[in-house]
Amino acid sequence: MSTAIIGMPLSRVDGRKKVTGSATYAAEFDQPGQAYAAIARSTIAAGRIVSIDLSEAEQASGVVAILTHQNAPKLPYRAHKGDPDPVVGERLHVLQSNEVNHQGQPVALVVADRLEQALHAASLVRVVYASATASTDATQAQPVSPGNSTTHPSETRRGDADAGLAAAEVKVDQTYVIPRQYHNPLETHATVAAWDGDKLTLWDKTQWLHNVADEIASVFDISSEDVRVISPFVGGAFGAALRTWPHVTLAALAARVVGRPVKLMLSRREMYYGVGYRPYTVQRFALGASRDGRLTAILHDGWQETSTYEEFRESLPHATKFLYSCSNVYTRHRLAPLNVHTPTYMRAPGEASGIFAMESAMDELAFALGIDPVELRLRNEPTRDEAQDRPFSSRSMQECYRLAAERFGWSQRNPQPRSMRDGHKLIGWGVASATYPVHLQAASALVRLLPDGTAEVVSAASDMGPGTWTTMTQIAAETLRLPVGKVRFNLGDTKLPRASVHGGSMTTASVGSAVQGACQKARASILANASTNDIAEAIRRLEHPYETLFHFTPGDAKKRFSMHAFGAVFAEVAVDPDLCEARVNRIVGSYGLGRIVNPKTTRSQVIGGMVGGIGMALMEHSPMDRRNGRAVNANLAEYAIPVHADNPPEMEAIFIDEHDPHVNPLGVKGVGEIAIVGVAPAIANAIFHATGKRIRELPITPDKLL
Ligand code: MOS
Repeated sequence: MSTAIIGMPLSRVDGRKKVTGSATYAAEFDQPGQAYAAIARSTIAAGRIVSIDLSEAEQASGVVAILTHQNAPKLPYRAHKGDPDPVVGERLHVLQSNEVNHQGQPVALVVADRLEQALHAASLVRVVYASATASTDATQAQPVSPGNSTTHPSETRRGDADAGLAAAEVKVDQTYVIPRQYHNPLETHATVAAWDGDKLTLWDKTQWLHNVADEIASVFDISSEDVRVISPFVGGAFGAALRTWPHVTLAALAARVVGRPVKLMLSRREMYYGVGYRPYTVQRFALGASRDGRLTAILHDGWQETSTYEEFRESLPHATKFLYSCSNVYTRHRLAPLNVHTPTYMRAPGEASGIFAMESAMDELAFALGIDPVELRLRNEPTRDEAQDRPFSSRSMQECYRLAAERFGWSQRNPQPRSMRDGHKLIGWGVASATYPVHLQAASALVRLLPDGTAEVVSAASDMGPGTWTTMTQIAAETLRLPVGKVRFNLGDTKLPRASVHGGSMTTASVGSAVQGACQKARASILANASTNDIAEAIRRLEHPYETLFHFTPGDAKKRFSMHAFGAVFAEVAVDPDLCEARVNRIVGSYGLGRIVNPKTTRSQVIGGMVGGIGMALMEHSPMDRRNGRAVNANLAEYAIPVHADNPPEMEAIFIDEHDPHVNPLGVKGVGEIAIVGVAPAIANAIFHATGKRIRELPITPDKLL
């Protein structure tokens, strides 16, 4: 009997809780007797603290304690690197010295009985600084080669890109700039910390519960087992909650010092000074081709900002090496250390930025050659991953282009820029490729079968919005062969078995494989000992609950195959020739994502990624006051993101019927990241088609189209 629950467009099992407001987010876990903490932050970008005057703040009503580097306990900060942490450098140690590394660095922590009291007293902390010369302006930065780090070498060569370029019949050689962007999830970060003797409980916004426990255990030099982290719901994150940022340490420190539970919430403004961002990038991208549109050279030389204390690197040139067939490929990736706080992963980190450059350049090349942009891409389809010299586990790029082009009506496109109109508006059609790696990590899950005929399946996973609650319920129900209503999945607590990081688009693959493995084991074991083949009946006959744990570990498929999701994104824009405002009329994306566990939540993910891509293309940037490194728009009134009025009524996601037996036991590839990839270049290319203007610096605001 196949129940075919995997593949069903099941509505979110946590949907009722979310719409009725009973889903509990980090800041809502109030504890009896809790105090509130507020952070006083540095107003300079580099230098040191000369003195701190707390006299006024200490007199303010309700103040329980004020911590500064002068009186805060020295914290051990044992070595710890979680997956999302930069390999080179060391995290910020809060309130441990008088050194200031970035604008907005915590310099004091005020704890008070009430939130308003804490905020008011924090505003009364007077700090005298000795400023040092700060470099905060990325546009003036000098990139350097990164320290010897990481899995990605900073420079790669295949063939001779310079010679290939020199000999090319047609060339494109341009520089593309992407400004700093912030994740801006609707839920701001928050931590509630409570100590019980030597044991700490944290209610926290996080994409990786066990990593919070490991990080905070390392800071306080205690055992990870003594830190419990609870995080059942996350109101968006996009990467901002992958690392355990300094405010979590501050909450735990405050709670320990005052001997009461402490709640620490970041304001929207504080979200710009301590939870990362997509770094500013500058990318030279050069392509050489023969007249018939075969790539003869690819050169991708990019750099990005990072902090002075950590080398954060995203996979900027990763896709450049295998997306197209080409025998001469050079990539370089450098960093510019600035007096800023460390950037971090943000939805499709590296791919979203790198592929903007590559797919803009491909469009420029198509125009220079007079070849249709879709045709140019198809002419350069590789038969295998030429960088790793391995076959793709599956690659549905041609199918993606065929289906999306047909759906979009691409054959009706007049290739001439400024040739298509709707009334007096200029219409443009653009296209871009998308790809993102298939990642997989170890994860564990536990199944409990109860004599009432139900199953509980648990793993300490997160759900920042994509629908982990729902997809795991489906995988468990299908594998056990129980109706969805008989299965309860639970996540968000380190008391549950350790899960993979909720990032890199790998939750369904990794946690899903653990859930599947646990349920297969439970089903087989129960039926082996039962006198019936009916699992529901066998469970009801249990005298005691049955429990089994399963640890999933990735196999070695990555050594044999190049494993990636692929997609093709088509966009239509309308540009008002007088106001120079570009609006997106419609987007059609087609994707090869392996098996789709839930087409409803998957579509929702992809639409969300398209909205993110519209923001990236047309709105999002955070200019900085170069005198002091302050974000001039640290709020949602001035940091523009797409609202419903900005989004087209037509956003369509097509999923290829793709079976990939190699990626993982479930055959799923991951959705979250690829959903934003390709959207910004498709829109930029459409704007070129509409206006004849090639804008190489995002966002494409009206001033750039004047
Ligand atoms: Mo994603 S940037 O790994 O949340």
